[in-house]
Amino acid sequence: MKLSHDELKNLMKNKLMKAGLNEDHADIAAEVMTWSDERGYHSHGAVRVEYYAERIAKGGITANPKFEWEETGPCSGVFEGDNGCGYAVAKYGMDKAIEMAKKNGIAVVGMKNMSHSGSIGYYTEMAAEQGLLAISFCQSDPMAVPVGGTEPYYGTNPISFAAPTADDRTVVFDMATTVQAWGKILDKRSRHESIPDSWAVDEKGNPVTDPNHVNALLPIAGAKGYGLMMMVDVFSGILLGVPFGKHVSSMYHDLSKGRELGQMHIVIDPARFVGAEEFKKAMSASIDELGEMPTAEGYDKVYYPGERAMLRKEKAYATGGVEIVDEIYEYLKSDDIHFDRYDHKNRFAE
Ligand code: NAI
Repeated sequence: MKLSHDELKNLMKNKLMKAGLNEDHADIAAEVMTWSDERGYHSHGAVRVEYYAERIAKGGITANPKFEWEETGPCSGVFEGDNGCGYAVAKYGMDKAIEMAKKNGIAVVGMKNMSHSGSIGYYTEMAAEQGLLAISFCQSDPMAVPVGGTEPYYGTNPISFAAPTADDRTVVFDMATTVQAWGKILDKRSRHESIPDSWAVDEKGNPVTDPNHVNALLPIAGAKGYGLMMMVDVFSGILLGVPFGKHVSSMYHDLSKGRELGQMHIVIDPARFVGAEEFKKAMSASIDELGEMPTAEGYDKVYYPGERAMLRKEKAYATGGVEIVDEIYEYLKSDDIHFDRYDHKNRFAE
C-alpha cells in the first residue's frame, strides 16, 4: 500500500493515541517514524508501531510523563524523560540543544530515562536545518559481542552526525555500530539462506553462517566498531548515570517497565569556528567534489551520507507514496491496539 506523508503519519499517530499516549508525543513519534519509512529505513518506521502500542498499553512508556529540564552550565543540560516516549524526549532535547548552541556556541545535552527514540538521524538533521552541526548517540539493548567475548554486552548503539550546506542538501550520517541489524538475520532465517561470517557469532563467540545459530551480533570493523559502541555507551549511558552495557534493559523483556535509556546530543555553531557562511560553502564544495569523482567499477556515483535516503524519499513520492507492507497497513487502520506479541520475548523477539 502506498501512502502520502500525512496518511501514514496520521494512521500511526491515531494508533499510539488509542494505546493511551498523549497527542503531542504521538504526533512526534509518528513524524519521526514517517521520516524513517520515507527514507527507506523501514526497520524504524511503521513496523514498530504495534510494539510501542503494546508497551504504552502495558505502562512501559509513560503516557503522560513529567519531563524535567536542568541547565547544568552555559553549554550543558540534562533532560529527565520519566520513561516517556523516547521520540518526544529526543526531540525536545534537541530543541534545547539548538537553543543553547545558538546562544553559547556549543551544547551538550543528555537525555535520561527515556524509551526508544528510533532513527536518530532525525534529531541531528533538525540541528543541521538550523545551520548547526550535530552529533547524537544512544543506547540500545545488548545484542552485540565485544571483540574476543562470547556474550552480548552492548546494543547496536547508533551514532549520527549531521552538517548543513549552502544549498538545500543536508549531510546526515546515521548508522548502527553493528554490521547488521537483527532484522536482517531474521530475514535470512525465513528465506533459509546463510549469512556472511562477518555478521554474527554463536554461543562460543565463533563466527556463524547459519542464521539459526546466532547468539550475538558483531560490531562493525572489529575492534574499531567495538570501541565506537563502547564510547556511545560511555557518552549516553555512564555519563548520565543510567544503566550501562549489559545492564541496559531489553526491548522486549518486560513491557510494563520503563526502559531507562540514555541519549546524548552535541550541537556546535560553526559561527564560533570558521564562520557560518564559509562553513556551509565549503560543505557544498566538498560534496560537489565527491559527487563529481570518477567512479569505481560497479558504482554509478559517489554519494554523500544521507543522499541515497533523500533520493529514496523523492522516488517514493514521485511514484505514489511511501510503500507500507499490507499487513502493517491493515493493522494501522484497524481498531486493534496490539496482539500481545512482544512482551517477555527474548532479546531478539523471534
Ligand atoms: P545504513 O547501513 O543503511 O546506513 C548507514 C549510513 O551510511 C547512512 O548515513 C547512509 O546514508 C550511509 N550510506 C550507506 N550507503 C552509502 C553509500 N553508498 N554512499 C554514501 N553513504 C552511504 O544504516 P543502519 O546502520 O542500518 O541504521 C539504520 C537506522 O537505524 C538509522 O536511522 C539508525 O539511527 C537506526 N538505529 C536506531 C537504533 C536505536 O536504538 N534507536 C539502533 C540502531 C540503529
